Amino acid sequence: MVTLHTIEQIRQAVQNARRQGRTIGFVPTMGALHEGHGSLIKAAQRQCGCVVVSIFVNPTQFGPAEDFSRYPRTLETDAAYCQKLGVDIIFAPCAEEMYPHEQLAWVQIEKLTAGLCGAARPGHFRGVATVCAKLFNCVQPDIAYFGQKDAQQAAVICRMVHDLNMPLKICVCPIIREPDGLAMSSRNRYLSADERRRALCLYHALQTCREQIVAGQRQVNRLTEAMHQIVERNQGRVDYISIIDPQTLEPLIHIERKALVALAVYIGQTRLIDNLLLDLNDLENPI
Ligand code: PAF
Repeated sequence: MVTLHTIEQIRQAVQNARRQGRTIGFVPTMGALHEGHGSLIKAAQRQCGCVVVSIFVNPTQFGPAEDFSRYPRTLETDAAYCQKLGVDIIFAPCAEEMYPHEQLAWVQIEKLTAGLCGAARPGHFRGVATVCAKLFNCVQPDIAYFGQKDAQQAAVICRMVHDLNMPLKICVCPIIREPDGLAMSSRNRYLSADERRRALCLYHALQTCREQIVAGQRQVNRLTEAMHQIVERNQGRVDYISIIDPQTLEPLIHIERKALVALAVYIGQTRLIDNLLLDLNDLENPI
């Protein structure tokens, strides 16, 4: 495994791998790696001959009051984890490498970014889409891997690649959970023991929603009402609880077939997200 820091180095390394006939799988991350990232890396290894992981805490996707400065930066531990998993290349540029001048070109995905996390985090998805476009241009992967936990991010990236005719495939991989159900996230490390226990309300709310749908409930307001109660009982502050169309992210009133149940909740100061992708034709799979 090599760790590279410049765009010139990563382009050269990828070019060499390609000359050897290897396909390039790419896992973009902000570091603080956990088993969720591990599952993306393993998916990339199953499909590609050379796996690149980027580690870059992207300043342009954080709002002024957000956790950019305290976001965990753990390059050494992350590199050891990647090494253990058999990653081929880490790309860990500094901010000056990625943004050497004032950035004037931005990627803005309309409509999909208006609601959910986009409503509370203006500019967030412009930063995510822009940095992913830049990273795709640096790494030039065949396939890039994203987690379903960031469902809106995955939808935005899929749409960017489609609408801008970018020459790569996007693979969205399932949410990885702790044994008790908490979705893995780099932000879980901010939680105190008490908050960690209360954070389970996101998973419990999703489970309850699913149970009610299995029992025949299709009215979105009824389903989200029950979820609100579970979160509030655990002193979580709801940012949103929404049931939406998985592709357009438009709110649903009544579940017909496919639905994305998504929520963002503050537990103490920490904002956590989770979701559940549902298909009424296929309800036997548990979360
Ligand atoms: O999901 C993340 O970790 C980030 O949003 C990403 C995709 C690496 C872009 O900075």
